[in-house]
Amino acid sequence: MNESIEHVSVMPDEIVAWVGEAHPRTIVDGTYGGGGHTRLLLDVLPKATTGDDPAPLIIGMDRDPAVLARDDVPGGPGSDPRIELFLGSYEKSPAALAHCERSHADALVLDLGLSSDQLVDRERGFSFTMEDAELDLRFDPESDIPAYEWLAYRGEREIADTIYQFGEERYSRRIARSICLRAQDRNPVRTVGDLVEICRRCVPRSKNHDIHPATRTFQALRIAVNDELNILQRTLASAADWISPGGRIAAISFHSLEDRIVKNAFREDERWKVLTKKPLRPTDQEIRENPRSRSAKLRVAERLGSEDTPG
Ligand SMILES: C[S@@+](CC[C@H](N)C(=O)[O-])C[C@H]1O[C@@H](n2cnc3c(N)ncnc32)[C@H](O)[C@@H]1O
Repeated sequence: MNESIEHVSVMPDEIVAWVGEAHPRTIVDGTYGGGGHTRLLLDVLPKATTGDDPAPLIIGMDRDPAVLARDDVPGGPGSDPRIELFLGSYEKSPAALAHCERSHADALVLDLGLSSDQLVDRERGFSFTMEDAELDLRFDPESDIPAYEWLAYRGEREIADTIYQFGEERYSRRIARSICLRAQDRNPVRTVGDLVEICRRCVPRSKNHDIHPATRTFQALRIAVNDELNILQRTLASAADWISPGGRIAAISFHSLEDRIVKNAFREDERWKVLTKKPLRPTDQEIRENPRSRSAKLRVAERLGSEDTPG
């Protein structure tokens, strides 16, 4: 890490209220990040074990080893014993639960995307303002391959389709063509600046200049390199198996592809009751204070018991 910037948790009051209503004893914070939501959720968790109930617990999961290695976050040395941290994808929640000797959680919180700490980490290449950084884009730098290698192994067609599908970028074909031309010239894209330069040339400036020409392309590559949408889809498809009746999922997404997956997963499985007919949005005040929250959408669903399930 090169600079420190504090990540401000998105829709904190809403997460606490919607999860708190389930009176959880076991919460999975699937995207632990700076631990902001976990810290707040401690308030809705019992302070200690009562009767035969399992000990109150928040399982914090993150794919990024840097997040879990930081000791100034809750879960670091000497902090609250009700928090256990696991390195790994939230898809592995059942294994983390089993490790803590329980089969079910009462809530799953997902706050998708990346944290402000990751954005300023020069080694990751998440921010297109750090032009000399390597184009890596992995949450977990120890797994899979960095984005510049991903590009090197793909053909023009696949690169274009990925940028179009995951970035909803209209100029995806032009961008893919330029990426492949550079590779043919034995000067493949390697840094953030290489890709930003291509996007600047290929994408006309938006009318009100509100979006950087590289935004959609970076989003697309990050989603592809980390397999983000498939992980979200698979996790939500199986979550009803390990969330107890009356338990909840609260999922914050930041773009339409994620939001669609969350919406459909809740609708398609009759074991979920949708509690938010429309996604909840941050208040104007939150957006003013934390502009990163402006595209957030929160959806919440409750796991029905067998007697509540239709049919
Ligand atoms: C927006 S941040 C979470 C911030 C956190 N809720 C807070 O309030 O501090 C998203 C985090 O999710 C992590 N992440 C992304 N995909 C993941 C996955 N499949 N499994 C676990 N963590 C993931 C990222 O590494 C990042 O730290």
